[in-house]
Amino acid sequence: MVHPLRPLLFALPAERAHAVTIAGLEAWGRVGAPLAGGPVRSERLATVVAGVAFPNPVGVAAGVDKDGRAIAGLFALGAGSVEIGTLTPLPQPGNPRPRLFRLVEDRAVVNRMGFNNGGLDAGIARATEATRAGVLGINVGANKDAGDRVADYVAGVSAAARVADYVTVNISSPNTPGLRDLQHGAALDELLAACVEARGGAPLFLKVAPDLEWDAVEDIARAAIDRGVDALVVGNTTVTRPGLRSPNAAEGGGLSGRPLRELAARRLADFARATGGALPLVAAGGIDTGAEAYARIRAGASLVQLYTGLVYGGPGLLRRIARELDALLARDGFDTVAEAVGAGGR
Ligand code: FNR
Repeated sequence: MVHPLRPLLFALPAERAHAVTIAGLEAWGRVGAPLAGGPVRSERLATVVAGVAFPNPVGVAAGVDKDGRAIAGLFALGAGSVEIGTLTPLPQPGNPRPRLFRLVEDRAVVNRMGFNNGGLDAGIARATEATRAGVLGINVGANKDAGDRVADYVAGVSAAARVADYVTVNISSPNTPGLRDLQHGAALDELLAACVEARGGAPLFLKVAPDLEWDAVEDIARAAIDRGVDALVVGNTTVTRPGLRSPNAAEGGGLSGRPLRELAARRLADFARATGGALPLVAAGGIDTGAEAYARIRAGASLVQLYTGLVYGGPGLLRRIARELDALLARDGFDTVAEAVGAGGR
């Protein structure tokens, strides 16, 4: 099924289409959004994760609304949570364009945006002003030229923690050279220790890459648990290129959408095993149906997030997934989504 806006938006270059969409949601958020009903709500879908009450477990992933312009509009589409960012301490332009590519035949996207954003202060100011019908997460990162990356994360976490319902430390973008090195060893431990201290009262989430070997999964799980991280987001885009057909397949950057599904699901299962239920997990990567959201939840995720699904599925998708998930939970006799987390099977 093709949503009616798709031919119009797909006639534009991908980044232009994204900007138009965010501008539209921003305007709608100011005028019409309150009439649209806000997050999908049901007793079955309501859930508390890391001490935060989510109206439903279907969230908008980081990168959709990097600067926090469309928060009200995104909630009005039915999302239970919106994660803005990645925000870096200083504004930065990101990589040269073109840097965002549709892979239509694969229902995928490749991006090498490189943390383009208007900076922490501007993003936080918008978040402070925004009407929040659900849970607001703020995702933070380091500037490309940061002399001290840990200091950038600490600045981000402490500023975001004053406003956000939760803060995500993003060390998994493939588009800032060297950033993913923070996922390993002493660098990870030092970063997490500093961020946990900086977070004040806000829950701290850590967002990881899907491109990790089992040893790295175990190390990250142990470090996150030991340092008191509250949840893991599994995960970001992949630098691998599994079985693509589209002409844009060879573009450099991170791949998201359908072709990421299997890898993201496998990595989620790995993290579920490595954490043994000690940490809530947030699933992201190729989720674009209620069935896939449900499968990820049964595999151990407490929440799901999506980005690329929205590009192909359109503005009704968040509401549709939440409703489908609700029906699947009811079908299988679950009174709450929390009961289905890690229940296994399909
Ligand atoms: C992203 N993603 C992302 N993640 C993040 O933590 N900070 C960011 O700034 C961005 N920016 C971004 C831009 C674009 C254009 C895309 C497509 C993705 C990653 C995103 O949040 C998500 O983890 C992945 O895209 C996988 O989910 P989907 O897209 O397969 O549902």
